[in-house]
Amino acid sequence: MSKRPIVTEQELSEQRLHMQKVHDMKEADAPKYHIVTYGCQMNVRDSETIAGMLEQMGYSAASRKEDADLVLYNTCCVRENAENRALGNVIWLKELKKTKPELLICVGGCMMQEDGVADRLIQAYPFIDLIFGTHNLHRFPQLLHRTLDQRTQVCEVLETDGEIAEGLPVKRNSAHSAYITIMYGCNNFCSYCIVPYVRGRERSRDAELILSEAQQLMDSGVQEITLLGQNVNSYGGGGAAFAELLYRLDKMGVPRIRFMTSHPKDLSDELIAAYKELPRLMNSLHLPVQAGNDLILDQMNRRYSRAHYLDLVRKLRDAVPDIGLTSDIIVGFPGETKQEFEDTMSLVEQVRYDAAFTFIYSPRAGTSAAKMTDPTPMKEKSERIEQLIALQQQIGQEILSEQIGLTQTVLVEGESTRNPGAICGKTERGHMVNFPGNVDLTGKLIPVRIISAGRNTLRGEMQS
Ligand code: 5AD
Ligand code: SF4
Repeated sequence: MSKRPIVTEQELSEQRLHMQKVHDMKEADAPKYHIVTYGCQMNVRDSETIAGMLEQMGYSAASRKEDADLVLYNTCCVRENAENRALGNVIWLKELKKTKPELLICVGGCMMQEDGVADRLIQAYPFIDLIFGTHNLHRFPQLLHRTLDQRTQVCEVLETDGEIAEGLPVKRNSAHSAYITIMYGCNNFCSYCIVPYVRGRERSRDAELILSEAQQLMDSGVQEITLLGQNVNSYGGGGAAFAELLYRLDKMGVPRIRFMTSHPKDLSDELIAAYKELPRLMNSLHLPVQAGNDLILDQMNRRYSRAHYLDLVRKLRDAVPDIGLTSDIIVGFPGETKQEFEDTMSLVEQVRYDAAFTFIYSPRAGTSAAKMTDPTPMKEKSERIEQLIALQQQIGQEILSEQIGLTQTVLVEGESTRNPGAICGKTERGHMVNFPGNVDLTGKLIPVRIISAGRNTLRGEMQS
């Protein structure tokens, strides 16, 4: 396994000192924080670390921005609309700060790692107190402390991406379902994607540290662990390392194991065998295809063909016939013709995904696709995505209907938001089920018989 530097113990103990100092200073009036997270699960997990650090510094969570002394935006830059939403909300805080001058506004995450963005924010939004990036997340306590001491704008965004900080505090969002980040960064440089530029090169965490985190989570009652990475299939340098990690987790007895995201070019036969052999590895897989046409896949620099992808799907279904597949799909990539789009539609029909995240291509400065000519009008792209969404909706609903009559194990997440009096949770395959029951069952694995299917969710009844 490749060696990668870890943030030094000295640096971490310095940060621990800073967590303590703010805590002492602020203990009397128990300040409150509110974190808004954009983007992927990696960001959600990073926000859990920031929350953990803040709590050690004496802050406690506020469910509304208006009640917070510190509001933090953890940003995403994967598409322009994610950036615009984050910026719009940050600007909205300027108004809040007028009525509450002590409010601290912090902005971190992937967008800050984009070339020139932090500098632009410093110029345009002087009311932001602290700007930091993803590579120096572990330095947040010291940076916050400096912000509180100096009461001037603090900005630190690092370009070096080689470090992994271990042992940071974490405040988890759920007591029964947890994320473990197993690797950071991405080496793939898909032509449309900004992630490799803002998250840096791939670096994997030590397997022993991952397993001990999993053990701690199990000891605290966690039932489901989702391993996270931009491309988990290249964990530990690729090959069988990721499958090995899954075997070890399964052996430890983690009740439910999931992971995301998988790149089709790196999905190994060992991983397919793991699906067949490991009872605790859930029968669902997020395997983004992005497009169904070979020329577009090539221009996206995905490094697999439609035939290769379909072959993977066949092998996975041979191994686990009821595996649920989900995907990410981009429409309107530069130069995509109507026929090339039709190839994506036909692939979706052939694969029959449980669900898919669909996106209109969004040019990202610095990526190679941003330099390609893109003659297709936005109206045409919108029509294409609507067609794709309608097709996927129909397929997804058919798959939900096929679940009727089956008894599935559901991990109860809590009260159903849409159906008062009911509780909800996900099946092993990942379908959301609502059913009558007591919220005390939250965190339990319960057999539920599926009795009907809605547009996106199932209804069921508990089996004794
Ligand atoms: N435009 C549209 N969608 C994108 N994605 C990544 N970059 C872009 C972009 N520039 C999508 C991909 C990826 C998901 C996380 O976001 O489908 O899998
Ligand atoms: Fe982006 Fe491709 Fe890396 Fe995924 S694999 S994060 S789409 S560059």
